[in-house]
Amino acid sequence: MPSYVITGANRGIGLAFVQNLGADSRNQVFAVVRNKPGATALLEFQSTHPNVHVYQADIIDVKSLKLAAEGMAKVTGGTLDVLINNAALIEESSMASNLTNYDGKEDVLEKLLAESFHVNTIGPIHTSNVFLPLIRKGDLKKIILISTGLADLKATLSVEIDGSAPYSISKAAANMAFAKYAAAVKKEGIVVLSISPGLVNTQQSIPPPEVLAEFAKMIAKFKTLAPEWDGQPITPEQSVEMVLKVIQDATLDQTGGFVSHHGNQEWL
Ligand SMILES: NC(=O)c1ccc[n+]([C@@H]2O[C@H](COP(=O)([O-])OP(=O)(O)OC[C@H]3O[C@@H](n4cnc5c(N)ncnc54)[C@H](OP(=O)(O)O)[C@@H]3O)[C@@H](O)[C@H]2O)c1
Repeated sequence: MPSYVITGANRGIGLAFVQNLGADSRNQVFAVVRNKPGATALLEFQSTHPNVHVYQADIIDVKSLKLAAEGMAKVTGGTLDVLINNAALIEESSMASNLTNYDGKEDVLEKLLAESFHVNTIGPIHTSNVFLPLIRKGDLKKIILISTGLADLKATLSVEIDGSAPYSISKAAANMAFAKYAAAVKKEGIVVLSISPGLVNTQQSIPPPEVLAEFAKMIAKFKTLAPEWDGQPITPEQSVEMVLKVIQDATLDQTGGFVSHHGNQEWL
């Protein structure tokens, strides 16, 4: 019975992971959320899927992660096959700004960078460390970071994507953190991989006009990067289907790498 932990499982791509994996009763799915009572859609799915378990933890609070892991270990007998580090802080206020715009607003920049680094880089390291003893005893032995194409150096430079700097920097740092993680655990047969899910529509409501305008600018740049791309975000369900295939196919030869939902460097 393969077991999976998914963080940030109450909405967006995380919820779609739970729904996809939970639909197969042979999977044991452990959904981690910050606010269990508020995770309405997830709890509704869980109510008809006894193989889905919901735990409350914040990925920057090690104590809460440890409590969740202890609870899960009792269900699985102390093992875990796949950890999917999906939770992230996706901060939209910095989308329209490049780093030069923070001249005179250093305090704002430092706060954005620190928060993004805390949640997006340190959080997945803490989470991986907490679950590592269970992964070591699992059969599949995979630790995944859900990253972003915005962390890719080549894409950033080729079409001059200068916005969302704190988010992109924190995710690029997370990719390196997971390369370091891979280097540390390769000898134990554990596969570590950073995977970008593509451009995915996870908006819960229609964003304000200024955010939509920034999205449009970014999509125009993405079109230059991938002229054959249709310019449309994919659904969380489509993304998860593709990312799960990449996870399933991942081998120790790829460990520490950074790929897209296509399993290569095509980010769209
Ligand atoms: N959507 C895209 O186009 C896209 C593109 C590239 C990469 N990604 C990556 O894909 C992943 C999922 O993205 P998404 O669009 O589904 O994001 P989302 O809809 O904004 O959801 C983010 C999730 O992370 C959780 N979270 C945030 N901070 C947390 C913390 N400190 N502890 C625990 N959980 C926390 C949120 O919980 P709350 O509900 O409690 O806030 C939420 O469940 C992220 O890693 C993101 O960087 C997304």
